[in-house]
Amino acid sequence: MTTGEGHVRAARVDEVPALEDLMREASLMWPDHRDDLLAHPDAIEVPLRDVRGGRVRVHEVDDVVTGFATVLALPDGDAELDALFVRPALMRRGIGARLVADAARRARDEGAARMVVTADPRAEAFYGRCGFRTVGEAPTRFGPAIRMLLDLAPRP
Ligand SMILES: CC(C)(COP(=O)(O)OP(=O)(O)OC[C@H]1O[C@@H](n2cnc3c(N)ncnc32)[C@H](O)[C@@H]1OP(=O)(O)O)[C@@H](O)C(=O)NCCC(=O)NCCS
Repeated sequence: MTTGEGHVRAARVDEVPALEDLMREASLMWPDHRDDLLAHPDAIEVPLRDVRGGRVRVHEVDDVVTGFATVLALPDGDAELDALFVRPALMRRGIGARLVADAARRARDEGAARMVVTADPRAEAFYGRCGFRTVGEAPTRFGPAIRMLLDLAPRP
């Protein structure tokens, strides 16, 4: 697979188990998260309400799902990138960046001025490359995390 292949589309309800498998596989790539995730299997969830609400977007190549992202609408009008996972064997090929670009475009079209994410510190460089800036800390039950923000260009 080369950068630029594939497309992004809405997730289907019937593929939720496969998305959760992908999420588990991508999450377990950080060795220090393994024990936490194995102890809290409930943390691996792609909520059906998000899929039904059109909030989950998948990137696929030749009918194979390579990654997915979930974008929620917050009450204050911002968008939140709530999940982003790429199949480990296909990382560093631009799939994560394409999913972020799709999420940003959709959030902007819904009227959001900003997209926020609570990120693992190890993803800071990735989000930085996607245009996010770090605005603070946001500890999670699995350890330290950072809050990052992407300004969405105003609609023409
Ligand atoms: C973070 C994640 C979504 C990135 O997806 P990806 O498809 O590998 O990222 P891309 O190929 O689009 O990366 C775009 C740029 O971001 C930067 N980047 C990506 N991963 C990086 C890493 N591990 N370390 C440093 N920079 C990184 C690079 O500049 C990269 O461009 P380059 O490959 O030309 O140098 C993916 O690594 C992942 O699923 N990780 C596990 C789950 C996770 O941490 N999700 C985020 C939750 S906060």
